[in-house]
Amino acid sequence: MQTLALYNLKGGVGKTAAAVNLAYLAAASGFSTLLWDLDAQGAASWYYDAKSEDGRTKKVLEGSTPIGRLVKPTRYDNLAVIPADFSYRYLDIMLKKVEPPRQALKRLLKPFGEQYSLIVLDCAPSLSHLADNVFAAADLVLVPVVPTFLSLRAFEQVQDYFKQEGFDATRLRPFYSMADRRRSLHRELLEHPPKAMARALRAVVPYASMVERMGEHRAPLAAYAPSDDPALLAYAELWLEAQKLLKL
Ligand SMILES: Nc1ncnc2c1ncn2[C@@H]1O[C@H](COP(=O)(O)OP(=O)(O)OP(=O)(O)O)[C@@H](O)[C@H]1O
Ligand SMILES: [Mg+2]
Repeated sequence: MQTLALYNLKGGVGKTAAAVNLAYLAAASGFSTLLWDLDAQGAASWYYDAKSEDGRTKKVLEGSTPIGRLVKPTRYDNLAVIPADFSYRYLDIMLKKVEPPRQALKRLLKPFGEQYSLIVLDCAPSLSHLADNVFAAADLVLVPVVPTFLSLRAFEQVQDYFKQEGFDATRLRPFYSMADRRRSLHRELLEHPPKAMARALRAVVPYASMVERMGEHRAPLAAYAPSDDPALLAYAELWLEAQKLLKL
């Protein structure tokens, strides 16, 4: 079992869009996949129409309910979801009660090892105790970076944090997201990537209304976009790169 996290300190950069599409593509290529929505906004859960049961997460963290009871099927083969709910705004505090605190998420995921080949974590935009748990649990942390200076700065902050806290920085890899070649700054940063993007994946997710329409279809791109859609092709390339890095 490998764990892939979509993370950025910055909000609205395409973490959830990538998590939802990569989880789908992994499942469609035959890997038994579990997408865990760790964000109280519950966007990934909403795309997959998965709802959680009141208070159940708390019971799992307290050890009175097995974690498997959080899993919901989706309408897609090989793909299941653990939905978030509003109680996830306290997930940070809840995880602190599990020992050892930074390893709590990794320990919680362990029982899934037999059933799933891939766990995809959709993260909230914050550098919190939950993020520490994600960094400790993930084999690969993919960071969507919009080609703008503030977005690059946020990635550098995450990189610095990894080093400072002793997390394995080789597991942290950025990729360009929501790239709009009509904008001169985006074009410049894509053509002359700054140092921070030296280890970026090759896939570039374009800014595309087809991605925004995931909200209309409440489905991953592959369910409604033509097979040659540029954004779908970008996610497919991203998945192939992630698969390679995860040695799946
Ligand atoms: N490649 C894209 N092209 C155009 N719009 C996009 C693209 N990716 C995401 N969006 C849109 O941008 C918004 C934010 O995307 P998304 O929810 O994936 O970001 P996020 O990083 O998960 O945000 P948050 O930090 O709030 O969790 C959404 O409305 C989504 O539809
Ligand atoms: Mg999100």
